[in-house]
Amino acid sequence: MKDKKKEPGERLQKVLAQAGLASRRHAEEIIQQGRVQVNGEVIRTLGTKVSPDDQIVVDGNLLKMPPKKYDYYLLHKPTGYITSVTDPQGRKTVMDLMQGIPRRVYPVGRLDYDTSGLLVLTNDGELAHRLMHPSYGVEKTYRVEVRERIPKQARQRLETGVDLEDGKTAPARVREVVQMGQDLRPCYEITIHEGRNRQVRRMFKAIGYPLISLKRIRFGPLGLEEQMAPGNFRSLTPLEVQKLRQEVELK
Ligand code: URA
Repeated sequence: MKDKKKEPGERLQKVLAQAGLASRRHAEEIIQQGRVQVNGEVIRTLGTKVSPDDQIVVDGNLLKMPPKKYDYYLLHKPTGYITSVTDPQGRKTVMDLMQGIPRRVYPVGRLDYDTSGLLVLTNDGELAHRLMHPSYGVEKTYRVEVRERIPKQARQRLETGVDLEDGKTAPARVREVVQMGQDLRPCYEITIHEGRNRQVRRMFKAIGYPLISLKRIRFGPLGLEEQMAPGNFRSLTPLEVQKLRQEVELK
């Protein structure tokens, strides 16, 4: 049981209402009347946070929690953050950006410290596992900047497959992005469906055009909105979750 505002968990009256016991308003009255125990202790304070592991008893009856609801978020990861839950070296992690969410979620796959862009976070382990699994071949699109334009022949090497130390890469789609304005660097979009470590960086290095910047703009059916600033996140819509599930053959 948690009682600090910032602690993860749900408010007790919300949990009682979600369990179908009473309306939120009535649940508040039940709590204030001292009819609710959490882990054996009578709780009269509204807003007390509880987690799925807490044992809640109302009028002597154990409350049956509804099936676990999963959370799904889309984060615009900035550079300078690592995609883990903790870092032994003390660097900032993407979890530092996910403030105020009720339950713990985990990043789906990795983006390098120096990579920005679209990252999905969830506590739906089955979906996350499938999205990362190579057999489902979820497509990911990256926007890359390089110092000089890449000639067609070198681009074709990316498209047909590049020999890396861990084997040849699968065919990729590459397109040049025409940018307006002065002093802009040549820019390309590359779509791959593998997820090897530092794969895009290694592919461009292997053809002699090391990257200056790397940003993921698509992940399966999801795209990064232009207006979403780095560091911001939002919940996925039910339709987006459905599309993600369909992508990996989940109902
Ligand atoms: N490829 C890379 O090289 N880095 C990333 O972060 C993602 C894909």
